[in-house]
Amino acid sequence: MNLNWSQEKYIKAYKFAAIAHQGQTIPGSETPYIMHLSFVAMEVIAALSTEQNCDGDLAVQAAILHDTIEDTNTSFAQISDEFGEVVAQGVLALTKDNSLEKSLQIEDTLRRIQEQPKEIWMVKLADRISNLQAPPHYWTKEKINKYRDEGILIYETLKGASNFLASRLNHKIEVYQKFLL
Ligand code: NI
Repeated sequence: MNLNWSQEKYIKAYKFAAIAHQGQTIPGSETPYIMHLSFVAMEVIAALSTEQNCDGDLAVQAAILHDTIEDTNTSFAQISDEFGEVVAQGVLALTKDNSLEKSLQIEDTLRRIQEQPKEIWMVKLADRISNLQAPPHYWTKEKINKYRDEGILIYETLKGASNFLASRLNHKIEVYQKFLL
């Protein structure tokens, strides 16, 4: 079998993310935030076994680091120093621009992701696959509905990056419907 990603790079990124996200929990739970990053990386690795001509190291490192700029004190420069410019650019593209009005953020993020290699598209698909679980108890129907619509937009915009992840996201969107009943 020909692995297109390295365990050593996974470990280095995971340690970095574990320290950066130290003390954070998944919203609405007491589960350590790092679980989310493990799930996103796992989805990406599952997809890598089905994809040809993929830079697996880029996909895996970006998956593990994807929330560091958005949710921790980590800077673009730190990621660039530790993991290289390409990974850092990918993570930056996956970072919401909080200076924009909330309703404009997702389209802006998707536009910036589309300027990146397909490995970064794969991380966004994997992120939403992982996030389409039972919503936090305090979410309103309206918020749940909006989150589902956003999932559809992500699917439609980025599905070309990976058939495997696209069909998995499509399935998650269908199942998510039950939280609207
Ligand atoms: Ni995420």
